[in-house]
Amino acid sequence: MATHRFIVSNYSNALTSGTVSWRSPSNIALVKYWGKYGEQMPMNASVSFTLSNCHTQTKLSFEKKVSGEFDFEVFLDGKKEMGFEPKIQKFFERIAVYLPFLKDFKFSIETTNSFPHSSGIASSASGMSALALCFMDMERQMQPAITDAYFTEKASFLARLGSGSACRSVEGPLVVWGEHPDISGSNNLFGTKYPFGVHPDFEDYQDTILLVDKGEKQVSSTLGHELMIDHPFAEQRFRQAKDNLSKLVPVFQNGDLSAFIKIVEQEALSLHALMMASTPYFILMKPNTLEIINKIWKFREETGARLCFTLDAGANVHVLYPKFEKETVLKFIKGELAIFCKNSEFITDEAGLGAKKI
Ligand code: DP6
Repeated sequence: MATHRFIVSNYSNALTSGTVSWRSPSNIALVKYWGKYGEQMPMNASVSFTLSNCHTQTKLSFEKKVSGEFDFEVFLDGKKEMGFEPKIQKFFERIAVYLPFLKDFKFSIETTNSFPHSSGIASSASGMSALALCFMDMERQMQPAITDAYFTEKASFLARLGSGSACRSVEGPLVVWGEHPDISGSNNLFGTKYPFGVHPDFEDYQDTILLVDKGEKQVSSTLGHELMIDHPFAEQRFRQAKDNLSKLVPVFQNGDLSAFIKIVEQEALSLHALMMASTPYFILMKPNTLEIINKIWKFREETGARLCFTLDAGANVHVLYPKFEKETVLKFIKGELAIFCKNSEFITDEAGLGAKKI
């Protein structure tokens, strides 16, 4: 699939100033993206649940100026946030060829997250996706003929250039990113809604995020991806991810939760095993991450409850379970897992349908 379809040569309407707002959720990968090439292309296909409660809301105000350099300011919770500027500057540079109007406007980007900034929940997926959608909203005002499909695909395509996983935050509840032979429409350039049958249990799957460590990550995902380039297990890993996604296809269809649990937990532990086997090696799990994992295994063994865990690139634990287990699992989390969280904090969330215009 070629990128030139996202390059626009001219617009039919002119814009002078205005405001657009979008809300975009975070997502949690079941098969993980870890390793990339070229301009933000994944080494393997991944699939994630789009979340609901963990989201970023972004208001983009724009005013026409004389074309020149990029001109933007970023505000987090109403306060100017210069710390985000280098990442956004890089984002502008990457997407300028696809949004030729970027240098013609002065932008103000006002953003708020529904989750605390220090929660250790990455805001890059929700943040980059919300911003990409705001730009697409501007583009649609200038070119009203674009289709909904083009709007969604290009929003995801642009979001990917900000942060790979962000391309899976535009739609929901299950989104695939990366070319996979078993999944029609899947491609490396943008996320696509999982195209096959999904058992009702997976439409509102629950994710309770246990906040084990709220500090800044010691190693960024971007660096972690780079360490896959010469990683001794890279090839095996990419094959494993491909096989795990193939295995999930019948599982999503028939709701086989035992099989689901095995695949999802293996993915989480493989991700962290890759980190531990990198050069340089590093560990993002904390002692309490392991305490929680062991407690989950014990509880599952004793009660047969269908909960499992996954991890992203940090110490927090995502507890995943079907809605029919909600009461049992939340009781267990409050009674036995919250003590392993910083200030006993956790966030309850569930699979959702993607981004929304505000
Ligand atoms: C472990 O999307 O944050 O969460 O593309 O460099 O911005 P960049 O990386 P990022 O990596 C996410 C890694 C992960 C797995 C996943 O979400 O698939």
